[in-house]
Amino acid sequence: MLIRRPNGLDIPYASEITPQAVYEQRREFIKKMAMGAAAGGALWEMANREAFAQTAAAKLPAKLNPAYSALDKQTPFKDASTYNNYYEFGTDKSEPAVNAHTLKTRPWTVSIEGEVKKPMTIDIDALSKLAPLEERAYRLRCVEGWSMVIPWIGYSLSNLIKKVEPTGNAKYVEFVTLADPKQMPGVNSRVLNWPYVEGLRMDEAMHPLTLLTVGMYGQVLPNQNGAPVRIVVPWKYGFKSAKSIVKIRFVKDMPKTAWNISAPSEYGFYSNVNPDVDHPRWSQATERRIGEDGFFQKKRKTLMFNGYNDVASLYTGMDLKKNF
Ligand code: MTE
Repeated sequence: MLIRRPNGLDIPYASEITPQAVYEQRREFIKKMAMGAAAGGALWEMANREAFAQTAAAKLPAKLNPAYSALDKQTPFKDASTYNNYYEFGTDKSEPAVNAHTLKTRPWTVSIEGEVKKPMTIDIDALSKLAPLEERAYRLRCVEGWSMVIPWIGYSLSNLIKKVEPTGNAKYVEFVTLADPKQMPGVNSRVLNWPYVEGLRMDEAMHPLTLLTVGMYGQVLPNQNGAPVRIVVPWKYGFKSAKSIVKIRFVKDMPKTAWNISAPSEYGFYSNVNPDVDHPRWSQATERRIGEDGFFQKKRKTLMFNGYNDVASLYTGMDLKKNF
C-alpha cells in the first residue's frame, strides 16, 4: 500500500480503474474470443477471472441498523469490490479482485483463545449465527487518503467476546489472518510479515461499532473484501480492519501488528483517523471519496475519528499525537 508506492496517492483514481462501460465491453470481447478459441486457453481463463470479480455472491439477509449507519451516499459495489488492499493477493489495488478466487472459504474455522475462560474453535457458519446479523453502512478511511462508504453485514464483536468470557488478564485482542502460500500468491513476497496481524485494546474491541463482518451489500463477503470473516473498525484507518481471520487471541500485552512491524514510525498501534496527525510522508487532513473523482472535484475534509465521535471517550487523557 504505502511503502512500495509512496507517490501512489498522486495517481488519479480514474486512471487506475477501468470505467465500467469499457470494462464490460472488454469482458464480452474476451469471452467471445475465448469461446471461439480452443477450450481451456488463456483467454478463457482471463474471461472467467474477470467474470468472477463481478459475479454476485450468495445473498445474506440482514436488518439495517439505522443507529449505526452513515447516511453518506454509498460507494458502488463495483468499486468496493475491485479497488482493494489485500496484499496476500497482490499489492496493486486491482489484483485482489482478480486473484482472490483461489481463496477457499469453506471449510473455515476461527479459533478463539488466550486469556478467556471459554476458548473455542468455531465453524464459520456457526460464527455467523452467533448473533443477529445487521447491516451498517460505515465510512472506511484508508491511511493512503481515500475513503468509501460500504454497507457491511455483521454483528458487534462484543457479542462474541462476552460468550468466551475474557479473564482479567485480557487487555488486548489480536486478530490473526490466513497466510497460505498455496491459496495466496502474495504471501510468497516479503512485502509484509505474514500472517497479517492486527489488534485492538479490549475496550475498543468491546465498543459496539466494532463489527465482526461476514457480508456487504446484501451478500456474503467477496473474497477480495476479506471472506469469510473480517473485522471492521470504522474510526480507525482501514488497515486495522483485518481480513480473513482464522484466530482471535486475547492477550496481556499490546500485539505486534503487521504494519507496525513493517514501519513503526509510520503506522502506530492505535491508528485512529485523525486529520491533525499527519503521516510522516503526507497530510491526513483531507481525503478523496472513491466515486467522487472528477478532475475538479474538491477533496473532503477528513473528520476526527472518521466522524465517529462516540469513541472519543475511549481516549480521554491520551496524547493522540504520541499514541498515533
Ligand atoms: N487484511 C489483510 N489480511 N491483508 C491486507 O492487506 N489490508 C488492509 C485491510 N485489511 C489488508 C487487510 C487495508 S490497508 C485496508 S484499506 C482494508 O483492508 C481494505 O478493505 P476493503 O478492500 O474491503 O475496502
